[in-house]
Amino acid sequence: MDGTLDQAPSPLHTIVADIDLEGANVEAGAELFARNCAQCHGSSGEGGHGGGPTLTKHLEAVYLVSIVTNGGADMPAFGTPKTGDPLAANEIRDIVVYLLENITQNN
Ligand code: HEC
Repeated sequence: MDGTLDQAPSPLHTIVADIDLEGANVEAGAELFARNCAQCHGSSGEGGHGGGPTLTKHLEAVYLVSIVTNGGADMPAFGTPKTGDPLAANEIRDIVVYLLENITQNN
């Protein structure tokens, strides 16, 4: 045991490296949120509808990209859905930037 491990690149970093948050279309993100997320998280991300928690709190960009892409225990995956069409990387970026600018409380 020499205490070293091979450092496999984290999938999270791969995802984030692939998504340039610059140039996001925040208006498109708002529409995508209304269509895909509001039924569970509320139209302003306040939570309480359909079992989604509030999003009006500190949430990091890297975490947002990950959970929207991959889903959670009860949250559907939008990048790799079990059924239906996935959201494109730029659509996930638009939603994430919309959340960061309008919903989350990162200060
Ligand atoms: C079917 C209901 C549902 C839909 C639709 C949904 N979510 Fe969720 N979401 C959840 C649930 C339930 C959780 C709690 C974590 C878990 O159990 O997976 C969650 C967790 C989250 C979290 C983590 C919150 C935290 O405090 O850690 C974020 C961010 C999030 N959702 C964003 C979104 C976005 C953005 C969309 C649309 C692209 C979306 N969700 C669509 C149900 C949903």
